[in-house]
Amino acid sequence: MRAVVIRDFGVEPELADLPVPEPGAGEIRVRMRAAGMNPFDWKVIDGALKGVVEHPFPVVMGSDGAGEVEAVGAGVEAFSVGDRVFGQFMKVALGRGSYAEQVLAPADGKLAPMPEGLSFETAAALPTASVTAYQAVEAAALEPGAIFLVNGASGGVGQSAVQLAAAAGAHVVATGPSDLADHLRDLGAAEVVDFTRGPTAEQVRTAHPDGIDAVLDLVSGPGDADPIVGLLRPGGVALSTNGALDPEALQARGLRGTNFYSDATPEALGAVAALAAGGRLRITVDSSVTLAEVPEAVARARAGHARGKTVIRL
Ligand SMILES: NC(=O)c1ccc[n+]([C@@H]2O[C@H](COP(=O)([O-])OP(=O)(O)OC[C@H]3O[C@@H](n4cnc5c(N)ncnc54)[C@H](OP(=O)(O)O)[C@@H]3O)[C@@H](O)[C@H]2O)c1
Repeated sequence: MRAVVIRDFGVEPELADLPVPEPGAGEIRVRMRAAGMNPFDWKVIDGALKGVVEHPFPVVMGSDGAGEVEAVGAGVEAFSVGDRVFGQFMKVALGRGSYAEQVLAPADGKLAPMPEGLSFETAAALPTASVTAYQAVEAAALEPGAIFLVNGASGGVGQSAVQLAAAAGAHVVATGPSDLADHLRDLGAAEVVDFTRGPTAEQVRTAHPDGIDAVLDLVSGPGDADPIVGLLRPGGVALSTNGALDPEALQARGLRGTNFYSDATPEALGAVAALAAGGRLRITVDSSVTLAEVPEAVARARAGHARGKTVIRL
């Protein structure tokens, strides 16, 4: 079966032919139909998990995907052959990832059944980005009318967060380049800040001199978040997906700060899938590529300026 693998840290991904894996006890094998790309997929190439887990090269790339169960191991009751499933498949220590025609996964892992009406492409785009947005918006506990900044709204997590926060009644301030402004308003943003025209924090402060209630920061890294966090009113909430915050220091300033890590539980996957299948969460697929086109697509995605998710057709 064909897969996109990395053979070392820091190298280009490449197409490979690997043996079809056999499911062990408690595992299923999924014939993947689509895989979704996320920044963490290439952070792994750069060594994000180096020293944390073994990398038995070649390691298949990718986390998110959707497909059909084609074999089940002993003791599996939750899934049967033919079920449509989606979720997160990355297990670097076992060399497993979703950019492959066939992938093994534990039946009790980060997987859920696909509801009727959800395409494989959309399902593959959901597990990391939309679950993160869903859980982050829940963690922000937004009051109706709360001013909520999504810093990085033009990306995969951000576009879902804008929709979910607007549905929760927040006044959403979204960052994005000018050509995405109409799209972000259509998704529910009340205001769009063009981060390419000047610092986001200055633009938001001008529009909201009394401060904002909450921010989901998808952009700042450690040590970078002060200008964005400085926009918060006393009692405000900051969430970072990139470990940018010092929660104790924020607490001393009367703010709640959380370095947020999503958890693609079957329940969270089911919730975002139901929203997407019901048309209440829209996923923009910017680019749909074949396995052979993945190395080029990874290079393009690394360079930025995507306008939605990249999905791999399998
Ligand atoms: N902790 C977790 O559990 C978790 C989960 C999911 C994601 N993440 C992380 O969260 C981040 C966002 O993920 P994603 O999937 O949404 O990534 P993405 O699809 O690449 O989106 C990032 C977006 O941020 C925009 N951007 C870049 N610089 C910006 C700036 N200075 N101001 C405002 N926007 C800016 C990018 O626009 P341009 O490309 O046009 O510059 C892009 O649209 C990534 O670092 C990812 O690894 C963490």
